[in-house]
Amino acid sequence: MAKDPVCWMEVDEKEAGSKYVYKGETFYFCTPRCKKTFSISPEKYLTKMEGDALVERKVVVVGTGGVGATFAFNLMISGLANSIVLIDLAREVAEGHVMDLQHGLSFLPPSQIYVGDFSDCRDADIVVITAGAHMKPGESRIDLVRKNAAIFRELVPQIVQYNPRILLIVSNPVDVLTNITQKLSEYPMNRIIGSGTVLDTSRFKYLLAQKCRVDPRNVHGYIIGEHGDSEMAVWSQVNIGGVPFDKFLDPDKQQIQSVKEKIFNQVKNAAYEIIHRKGGTNFAVSLAIMQIVTSILRDENRILTVSTLLNDFYGINDVCMSVPTILNRNGISKTIKIKLDESEKAKLVSSAKVLDDVFKSLDVA
Ligand SMILES: NC(=O)c1ccc[n+]([C@@H]2O[C@H](COP(=O)([O-])OP(=O)(O)OC[C@H]3O[C@@H](n4cnc5c(N)ncnc54)[C@H](O)[C@@H]3O)[C@@H](O)[C@H]2O)c1
Repeated sequence: MAKDPVCWMEVDEKEAGSKYVYKGETFYFCTPRCKKTFSISPEKYLTKMEGDALVERKVVVVGTGGVGATFAFNLMISGLANSIVLIDLAREVAEGHVMDLQHGLSFLPPSQIYVGDFSDCRDADIVVITAGAHMKPGESRIDLVRKNAAIFRELVPQIVQYNPRILLIVSNPVDVLTNITQKLSEYPMNRIIGSGTVLDTSRFKYLLAQKCRVDPRNVHGYIIGEHGDSEMAVWSQVNIGGVPFDKFLDPDKQQIQSVKEKIFNQVKNAAYEIIHRKGGTNFAVSLAIMQIVTSILRDENRILTVSTLLNDFYGINDVCMSVPTILNRNGISKTIKIKLDESEKAKLVSSAKVLDDVFKSLDVA
């Protein structure tokens, strides 16, 4: 079926009474009137077609374990994507999730949900990669690096041969895998994004909000650096509705330091605590991925602490890690050089060194 470019109705090419060749391409019309309108000003209607094509939103999820499947569920509920494609090495698992998701579609805005293969990445707006090993109790994110780097060496070329617009890396260690993907894909840096510390920042805001008895949406603060043990809180910039955190709480100096340490440790150790209890994390991370995907698909220019390739950032070069970053439909639009005090600068540089050492040990070309 073709689409009449004027009235946007479907037309059977074989039965269409009117057709028109423009710049070597044949267009079919439902009536001679549409054909006449088109022939007066074809460019006008072709521009409209391109605009409409942008409304088609396709998201591919590679890896449908706890994180990938929960994200697919959130994405389906949001109605943000017209096509959601699930890919997993364990194809049957992906098939099961697809069936389960499809059975809820009668309650939701329409979308196509199906099991795919890598060729489905061809016209994808975003490919979200959550494939690979996850942390077991007692393991750190960095402990996963060899297993998951090997998986990424295989996966990334299979995906980028179809040139999807943006790759969003979620698998851990997310910063190192984002850098590996950058090098393997040779994509411009705006098109490779790691979910970074978006989740950690959300945990931070929640805990601060609890302490201050306000809505977490009125808490402003960032966790930056590695998504992992060397991450850091930018305490110098934390504010509650515009009031610096220290002033908002107003206890004596001794107490505030221990409050800060307690909150930061809870953020840093959150995944370990959850994994110890239920084996993995999936709900909050899926919402974090949703924030990133929404900002891209809706061209929101939202500032999120995603992992991106940093160069000339407080002396850090060629390391993927999280700093506040503007995200829109082109992916990374700009990293924000947030003001850090001297001790924060030193912590960020030392977090970058941890990641750089791990990355260099992998010998990625
Ligand atoms: N960045 C974050 O904030 C964050 C948060 C939570 C989890 N994670 C990470 O996300 C990843 C997934 O976690 P999970 O709990 O969903 O794990 P999981 O074990 O439940 O799922 C992983 C899935 O990947 C699939 N897979 C493995 N190799 C594959 C390949 N080559 N191609 C396609 N699929 C493949 C597996 O079959 C499995 O279904 C882990 O690395 C975890 O550490 C990141």
